[in-house]
Amino acid sequence: MIYLKTPDQIEQMRPACDLVSRTLGEVAKWIAPGVTTRKLDAIACEFIRDNGGKPACLGYEGFPATLCIEVNETVVHGFPSGYTLREGDIIGIDTVVEKDGWMGDQCYTFPVGEVDEKVMALLRTTKEALAVGIEACRVGKRIGDISSAVQAYCERRGYSIVREMCGHGIGRGMHEDPSVPNYGRRGCGPLIKNGMCLCIEPMVNMGSKNVVFEPNGWECRTRDRKPSAHYEHTLAIVDDQTLELTTFEYVRQVLQDRYV
Ligand code: MF3
Ligand code: CO
Repeated sequence: MIYLKTPDQIEQMRPACDLVSRTLGEVAKWIAPGVTTRKLDAIACEFIRDNGGKPACLGYEGFPATLCIEVNETVVHGFPSGYTLREGDIIGIDTVVEKDGWMGDQCYTFPVGEVDEKVMALLRTTKEALAVGIEACRVGKRIGDISSAVQAYCERRGYSIVREMCGHGIGRGMHEDPSVPNYGRRGCGPLIKNGMCLCIEPMVNMGSKNVVFEPNGWECRTRDRKPSAHYEHTLAIVDDQTLELTTFEYVRQVLQDRYV
């Protein structure tokens, strides 16, 4: 069941979305060789609480942390740990903030120091694929138009699309209908309507599309252990316009010339 929101309700989602974006900006300040992913998680958790939000991933269906940590071959839902970041790693930071009863969900994949040019190209393409998906997200079109645009953009450049996880609706719940796959067919799926709030989140692999899950059921990595990238925005459709409720602006201000 898809919950359509009123323009007023969509305005109420802005504080959660702004806070998740500011949280990524805060974490960005700390990403460097030598830092543990557990430290990043503690910083994010404190920052969210200090700003009147709730870390929505923490305890969600048993998820143990504020941040989903995606180092190199980790696709999604990695746990923070004692792992120390190294020069040349990439790290996706994916998190959800609840504020005023609404959710904001966002992900950004960061390079750690100097990163191999081929891996940087994967990051750029995945971020561009998110923009392509947002461009395809228009009133009167269908979810499959987003899916096929993202898929074609990535596959034409030689990358593969993860099938096991998708974008999703969002609102009072972190995951609402409809599902927003990153692969699919034009003209298929639910109609895009005013009042929809959607997360588009391409998960793109350098090698094959196949993934494996750790026994904990959460942590997901590429089967071939080649790198995977992930970017995400929360969007709302209001008055026939697609609005980005989250922004990478805070991350951009921190990264400056390292901004992907
Ligand atoms: N963007 C991720 C998703 O939609 C956030 C997951 S939070 C978790 O799956 F708690 F489920 F890990
Ligand atoms: Co999401």
